[in-house]
Amino acid sequence: MPSVIQVRPQAACATVEELSKKTVKLADGAELPLIGLGTWESSKGEVEAAVSAALNAGYRHFDCAPVYRNEHEVGRALAHGGVPRSELWITSKLWNDRRRPADVREALEQTLASLQTDYLDLYLIHWPVVWARNTVMKPDSLASLAECWRTLEALVDEGKVRHIGVSNFGEVELAALLSTARIKPAVNQIELHPRLPQTALVEYCQRNGIVVTAYSPLGRGTLKGANMLSSPTVQELAARHAVSPAAVLLRWNLQRGVVVIPKSTNPGRLAANLEEPWRFALSADEPLALDGVPHILLADAKACLRCMRRLQEIISKAALA
Ligand code: A2P
Repeated sequence: MPSVIQVRPQAACATVEELSKKTVKLADGAELPLIGLGTWESSKGEVEAAVSAALNAGYRHFDCAPVYRNEHEVGRALAHGGVPRSELWITSKLWNDRRRPADVREALEQTLASLQTDYLDLYLIHWPVVWARNTVMKPDSLASLAECWRTLEALVDEGKVRHIGVSNFGEVELAALLSTARIKPAVNQIELHPRLPQTALVEYCQRNGIVVTAYSPLGRGTLKGANMLSSPTVQELAARHAVSPAAVLLRWNLQRGVVVIPKSTNPGRLAANLEEPWRFALSADEPLALDGVPHILLADAKACLRCMRRLQEIISKAALA
């Protein structure tokens, strides 16, 4: 057996050891489960049951954010799930209008209280923007990401968060952060699926020791038109391997060393998402077939419009929170 699963020559790869352990090592040696449960767009009233079902199915990695407006429910399910805190990996994120040091600390305390825990395994800057407190998209000229990062570093020193990272960061923003950070970002969480592969960014992160997490790995994220489950290529590969289309999409990211956090509130689908991707492997040429699925170009006006509308929805929800 080769020591590395080759996806294609230039792409990042996961080692066989990592895939068999179902975890990926962060720069400090901590092990992050390669499959987690996403909770974005998991409705209030549904997410508590979904998290309980996920714990029973074996999930130990949960991805949360206050802007999803359901952290209380997630916290209740985790607190009553019967799994010791030390066995859980809980990620949350800092919203865009909480960038000043005191605001960062206050936001973290709120998230910790909602999630009923006294530390996070991973705390991410949600977007590479800085808004004035309680505003939507109003830049805060007196705050900066660099200052925000220093506060996050202090929170690591204090043991309130075990790791810090970012989300939706591109290469330019990462380079700026890497040039000043005392503690390097452990993770960059971005939207990734075969229609939005972002291979250059994935490789940049992995070259710099930053683990990549894919949100919306099934292609139903910000770019709403990117639903991949009905793609003929995906369906053909699913039939060939006798797994679901979702498993093919998850495996595509896993084989390039990318963590996946598919969202589901359906107990059957969330259990399958955790189990099926380990039942098979995409052979050398199959990822190429998936890479051949037409990509969404961010320059594509329709995709951009959908993306902006989605962002506006998220922002509006946040303003109401
Ligand atoms: P549901 O919660 O009803 O299962 P993404 O994480 O890429 O944003 O995708 C989330 C969407 O995909 C949700 O609408 C979720 O619906 C659906 N979904 C999650 N897992 C599966 C699956 N295994 N098969 C089909 N749809 C799925």
